Amino acid sequence: MADFTAMEAWVASAVRWLHVVTGIAWIGSSFYFIALDLGLHRDRNLASGADGEDWQGRGGGVHHIQKYLAAPEQMPEDLGRFEWESYVTWLSTLSLPGENDWEAQAEGPSRHYAEAEGFADVQDIVLGSCSMCHSAEPGWEGLQGAPKGVHLDSAKGIAENAKAIYLQAGLSRAMPPADLSFMERTEREVIRRWFRAAMEG
Ligand code: HEC
Repeated sequence: MADFTAMEAWVASAVRWLHVVTGIAWIGSSFYFIALDLGLHRDRNLASGADGEDWQGRGGGVHHIQKYLAAPEQMPEDLGRFEWESYVTWLSTLSLPGENDWEAQAEGPSRHYAEAEGFADVQDIVLGSCSMCHSAEPGWEGLQGAPKGVHLDSAKGIAENAKAIYLQAGLSRAMPPADLSFMERTEREVIRRWFRAAMEG
């Protein structure tokens, strides 16, 4: 379960990108169809019975587009539709981890982390290596308030940020930045063991 946390962070990042990219595709195709409708020549009395037409080019070839107001006499079997962009954008919103209530429920109350084996040791480590920056009034010069709103100067704050602590200081060495408040390898191991115990317990 604990290693699922790292994978979940990767998946969350991938889904977020999918969301952004399909969102851009959606906006792009919307703009294209708006431009297409605005540029349509509707005064040409087309033999096909279409309401309007336009000729467009971009790179190779020339596109000849005709717009029917209702279904044409013979409906093509392979009518292209521009809907996946909006569907995927919405679906990726629904599955954005961390943005939804079901995730909070699945994680359970942070009390769970405070009760897990090893919490006392983790608290010592975090108070010693993180709280000088991560508090309302950081002792570290140049900081105004807890960085990114992450408060790590109380048991409550530590339990609430269990997953972030695991990712930033247990699994990776992202925190402390540049290992400013030097952390022992064994201390990171203590963080990992505690978080995994909480996930399994
Ligand atoms: C020297 C000051 C300092 C220390 C010590 C420090 N941090 Fe940070 N922390 C920062 C700063 C600055 C940021 C904001 C970084 C940024 O903007 O990308 C940050 C950001 C974070 C974040 C948010 C990351 C994000 O992208 O949302 C977490 C979680 C975090 N720190 C955890 C820890 C933990 C756990 C420790 C101790 C093991 C720790 N920090 C020690 C300064 C510190």
